[in-house]
Amino acid sequence: MSNNNRKILVTSALPYANGAIHLGHMLEYIQTDIWVRFQKQRGHSCTYVCADDTHGTPIMLKADQLGITPQQLIDQSSEEHQRDFSAFMVGFDNFYSTHSQENREFSSMIYNKLRDAGHIAKKTITQAFDPEKQMFLPDRFVKGDCPKCNEKDQYGDSCEACGATYSPIELKNAYSAISGAKPIEKDSEHYFFKLGDFEDFLRNWVDTHVQEQMKNKLNEWFESGLHDWDISRDAPYWGFEIPDAPGKYFYVWLDAPVGYMASFKNWCDKNDTDFDEYWKADSSTELYHFIGKDIAYFHSLFWPAMLEGAGLRKPNGVYCHGFVTVDGKKMSKSRGTFIMAETYLKHLRPEYLRYYYAAKLNSGIDDIDLNLEDFRLRVNADLVNKVINIASRCAGFIKKKFDGQLSAELSEPALFQAAIDKSEIIAEFYETREYGKAMREIMAIADQANQYIDNAEPWVLAKQEGKEQQVQECCSMGINLFRVICAYLAPVLPQVAEDAQKFLNIENFDWDQIKQPLLNHKINKFKPLMQRVDESNVEAIIEDSKQSMQEMQKTIKEPAKTPLQLEPIAETIEFADFAKVDLRVVKIIQAEHVKGANKLLRLTLDLDGETRNVFAGIKSAYQPEDLVGKHTVMVANLATRTMKFGDSEGMVLAAGPGGEDIWILEPHTGAKAGMRVS
Ligand code: MSP
Ligand code: ZN
Repeated sequence: MSNNNRKILVTSALPYANGAIHLGHMLEYIQTDIWVRFQKQRGHSCTYVCADDTHGTPIMLKADQLGITPQQLIDQSSEEHQRDFSAFMVGFDNFYSTHSQENREFSSMIYNKLRDAGHIAKKTITQAFDPEKQMFLPDRFVKGDCPKCNEKDQYGDSCEACGATYSPIELKNAYSAISGAKPIEKDSEHYFFKLGDFEDFLRNWVDTHVQEQMKNKLNEWFESGLHDWDISRDAPYWGFEIPDAPGKYFYVWLDAPVGYMASFKNWCDKNDTDFDEYWKADSSTELYHFIGKDIAYFHSLFWPAMLEGAGLRKPNGVYCHGFVTVDGKKMSKSRGTFIMAETYLKHLRPEYLRYYYAAKLNSGIDDIDLNLEDFRLRVNADLVNKVINIASRCAGFIKKKFDGQLSAELSEPALFQAAIDKSEIIAEFYETREYGKAMREIMAIADQANQYIDNAEPWVLAKQEGKEQQVQECCSMGINLFRVICAYLAPVLPQVAEDAQKFLNIENFDWDQIKQPLLNHKINKFKPLMQRVDESNVEAIIEDSKQSMQEMQKTIKEPAKTPLQLEPIAETIEFADFAKVDLRVVKIIQAEHVKGANKLLRLTLDLDGETRNVFAGIKSAYQPEDLVGKHTVMVANLATRTMKFGDSEGMVLAAGPGGEDIWILEPHTGAKAGMRVS
């Protein structure tokens, strides 16, 4: 069955660059990585690419809030995302960015082809416009009262109270979630991709390329009609300008999937691979996209239609998975179950989660529950008590009594053969993403191995005269089963696999090579390959998640939802008054105590070359040495005030109830001193 000429390109969805990676995301990257590692182990050529999804309004606004440029924000995310993925052993061949030259070129090329073939339409539409920010507002950035049930503070696309969907201009008492201003209606010309042109193609394609459960969903979409898709956005927008439409930008979802091609192209250039062989319309290579069910519409309709319209190959499969819930509920910040990858990794090794997800995954789109109690028990029972235990029961005897030498024959060849006979069915389960079934097959082999050792009782034989050979053979049998099990688990547990190879003194776990037993072979000293998961580790993750959420809420403000009201809001001022305040990001180059002052610290601030002396009442919250080198925001045009201790030339912004809880803003350290805050 294993055809060794497969050339496979695999992708996971591109994570947004405005948020940290959490355990929900990790389901997808682990699912994909297991599949890719499996293909490589089988000897196929398999390339796994991904990138950060870097464009769009939320990223532009978040950078704005943090006082940094979008480029700085996406650079920072890229670093953090790659750190988390590599810690979880997700082995991308290339991790790139949608904000790249390759992506700009491919997006333009595809757009030009669609336009030349008549698949792009222009229409003038009316949208909510923020008169203060001078920008059109995406639906999620307009809030107001629901037009159906009058519930307050609903988003511009749907009501969380009554479930009604509507357009943002229908909201009552609407306001911009960015500035709070009342939006006006404004016309502008938009570019649309005529999805309906591809209906016949899509109906056919969907029939053979998506999961059964997805097909039903897609049929509903076909029934409700394929509408033109709005692919343009007006400036200001963070993205790629449309080649023949100055001031108009590609909507982020237009260039996002093209990012798969761009990342692969970037890899091809570094690895001397023919990009066109993979993307030409009649390519014989394979292409698979792993995605979550929330983005199926984009991948099963828009994307194949774009590829078809541009004369490119289509995916062989779009593999959708369900959503992660924790303890049966949606991940929640307040319950501490919105767990960041980084937080998990502080307390537990990645392979526990990789195994647990594998054990629960199948080829369907149902949600996957990470039940924390079940997680701990399952990992301990399967990996530590079953799998690792096989080696720890046998290795000592081989090392001590036989100088690490395995026997010349297996005591029960049939048992070894039975384990090898499972290789095809396990491969089939990996191939079809039925990982849970694969794990059950593997654990059944581990059960048999442990039973074999229970019956053979090497610890009893070892005390008897003349049973030397039997001890060696039965322990060698155990070690050989352990080797086969580790090979089967290698896609899921890469570190265990690597350590097991060192212990077994072998080079690899290539799928076909494990069929030969290890005989007359010298193994190395056994070191425990995995510790048990302790209840306290799991509790610490939850505690930490609650805390890091609180930290985040201190430093990062969500796009003004309900303002944090510590004190009654003072009398309102007009925007024109506020606009007079010149806010600047500044660097604290010196900070010191002020003799005779109880509350003040003296700060020396650098505004891109100019220095200012400012007294700030933050002594209760900060040590001077902790401030030096950091950035904060100051009012640069406040009149100089003469104080007992000297002149204060401006004011540093601080928030909080007082005491230790005073925070001066500290944007990303890449912020440039002197930069204006808008
Ligand atoms: N940027 C888009 C994808 C563009 S692909 C051309 C996006 N990004 S995302 O960061 O929101 O999500 C990345 C992937 O993680 C998506 O496939 C999404 O379905 C998946 N998940 C995000 N949260 C998830 C869970 N809680 N559970 C499982 N998968 C989840 O969408
Ligand atoms: Zn409502």
